[in-house]
Amino acid sequence: MTHIFLYGPPATGKTTIGEILSRNLKLPFIDLDRVIESKAGTSIPQIMEGQGESAFRDLESAALKEITLTPNPPLRGASRSPTGRWESIVALGGGVLLRDENRHLAESNGKVLLLTAELDTLLARLNKDSNKRPLLAGDLKSKLKSLLDNRREHYDSFTLKLDVGNQTAEQTAHRAQIMLGRHHLSAMGEYDVRVGQIGNLRSIAYGNIIVTDENVAKHHLDKINIEKSIIIPAGEEHKNLETVSRLWKAFLENGLDRKSAIVALGGGVIGDLAGFAASTYMRGIDWIAVPTTLLAMVDASIGGKTGFDLPEGKNLIGSFHPPKLVLADPSLLRTLSDRDLRSGMAEVVKHGIIADPELFALCSNGMDWVKDNLEEIVKRAMAVKINIIEEDPYEKGIRAALNLGHTVGHAVELVSGFKLSHGESVAIGMVAEAAYAVRVGVAGRGSDEAIESTLSNLGLPTRIPAELPREEIIRAMKVDKKKSAKAIRFALPVDLGKVELVDVTNLDEVL
Ligand SMILES: NC(=O)c1ccc[n+]([C@@H]2O[C@H](COP(=O)([O-])OP(=O)(O)OC[C@H]3O[C@@H](n4cnc5c(N)ncnc54)[C@H](O)[C@@H]3O)[C@@H](O)[C@H]2O)c1
Repeated sequence: MTHIFLYGPPATGKTTIGEILSRNLKLPFIDLDRVIESKAGTSIPQIMEGQGESAFRDLESAALKEITLTPNPPLRGASRSPTGRWESIVALGGGVLLRDENRHLAESNGKVLLLTAELDTLLARLNKDSNKRPLLAGDLKSKLKSLLDNRREHYDSFTLKLDVGNQTAEQTAHRAQIMLGRHHLSAMGEYDVRVGQIGNLRSIAYGNIIVTDENVAKHHLDKINIEKSIIIPAGEEHKNLETVSRLWKAFLENGLDRKSAIVALGGGVIGDLAGFAASTYMRGIDWIAVPTTLLAMVDASIGGKTGFDLPEGKNLIGSFHPPKLVLADPSLLRTLSDRDLRSGMAEVVKHGIIADPELFALCSNGMDWVKDNLEEIVKRAMAVKINIIEEDPYEKGIRAALNLGHTVGHAVELVSGFKLSHGESVAIGMVAEAAYAVRVGVAGRGSDEAIESTLSNLGLPTRIPAELPREEIIRAMKVDKKKSAKAIRFALPVDLGKVELVDVTNLDEVL
C-alpha cells in the first residue's frame, strides 16, 4: 500500500479530512481538483463550462495517472513506505473512480476510503458552502439526490467506508486512521505504526539482521528478505541478561555498526530483548518491530519500552528506545497457538476497558468471532495504546492506566513460575483489581462481573489458582517497579471505558 485516496460524494469533507490525515501521518496532501486547476490554469467550473464534463474527466484521469505512476515524489517532504515507494494522501473528486481505468489505478496504488453521509447532512453542508459545484447547479436538493441515486451502486461497491455524519472532522480522521491501520507517533521518537501485509515488504531496506525465536523462524522467517538472522530459544524464561549478551555478541560477530538496524520478528519477548539490545549496542542503533503475536501487535511493540527480567521480577531492567517502524500483519497470527491468541485477548480486553467500550463489547462475542475478525481487533486495540502513549510517553500520568491488571498480574505470573502466561496473569489481575474497585466503591456494581464474564468467555482464567501462596504474590507486588514510597499505585476500572489511578496501602485487601 502506498497512497491513501479519499473518495465519496460532494461535501463529505474529503479535503478537510485529507489535510488532517496529512498532518497526523506526516504525509503530503494532494487535492486532485487543485492539481487539475493548476495544470489547466483555470477553475473547474470554467473547464466544465468551456470544455464539457468529458474533457474534465480526461483531465482527472491524466492527473491521477501522474500521481500514481510517478516513481519519485513530485513533492518536497514526501515520505516513502517500507516498500520504498512514495506515498501521499489524495482527495479525489466525487466521480473520478467511475472510470474503470481510474479505479484500477487507485486500487492498485493504495487504499481507497469512501466517505459517506446521509442526504440531509450533505445538503446542510452544501448550503453553507460557497464553492461552486457545476454538477449541482440549479435545484440543489434534487440534483444531489439524483447524483447520489445514480452513483449508489458505484459507491456501495467500495469495501472501506466511513460515515462522516455527526462527527467532527478530527473524529472522522481518527476513525479513518483506525480503519486504515495507519499512525505516526512523535511523542517519543518519530515512527509509523502500520497494519499491513508483511508480504508487501519486498525488503525492509534498512534492516540488517533479524532477531527471532525458534517458533517464529519456522513459520515466518522466509517472509522477510534479509539473509542474516539470529534465532534464540522461545519463551519468557529466556528474557534475561544472558540472552541480551548473546545478542550483543552476535551483532558484533555479524559486523553491525552504528548505521545498522535490527528487525525484531516475534512476540513481546523478542521485541523487548531485541529492542533493548539495540538500545544499548554501540550506544543505540535502530530497530524495526514486526510483531507476530496478538499481544505484541496491540501492546508490546508500541510505546518504546524495552527490557528484560531479573530473577527478582519482570522487566526490572529496561530502556525507552522506540523502533523506527512497527509493521503488524494480522495474517501472521494464523500460526499462533490458541493459548497465545487468548493471552493476547487479555490485553485487547484491557484496552477496551480503558478507553473503547465498543471494543470491549466486540470481545464479548467470544473466540470464534475474534478469530474471524483479527484485523479489526488489532486495529482498534492498538489505537487505544497509541492515543495514551502519545499523550504521556514517559508514564508521568495517564500511561499508568495501561497497568490495569498488571500489578496483580505480574506478581501472579512470577509466583506461578511463568506457568501462567503474561495474558492469563493479566486476565486474573484485571478481575482481582475490578472486584477491588467495586469493593472500595471506586466502581459501580456490575462492571467487575462484565469484565469477568467477557474474559472467561474468551477462555481466560479469572481467579488466582489456589496453590499460589497469597503472601508470595503480595511480596512480588511490592518488588514491582510501579511501587511508590508508601503505596502501590493501581489502575482501577471505574467503568467500561474509564480507569482511575488509586494508591493502595493494604495489599491484602486487593487479593
Ligand atoms: N514492551 C512493552 O511495552 C510490553 C508490553 C506488554 C508485554 N510485554 C512483554 O511481552 C512479553 C509477552 O509477549 P508474548 O505474549 O508475545 O510472548 P512471546 O514473545 O513469548 O510469544 C509467545 C509464544 O508464541 C510464539 N510465537 C510468536 N509468534 C508466533 C506466530 N506468529 N506463530 C506461532 N508462534 C508464535 C513464541 O515463540 C512464543 O512461544 C512479556 O515478556 C511481557 O513482559 C512488553
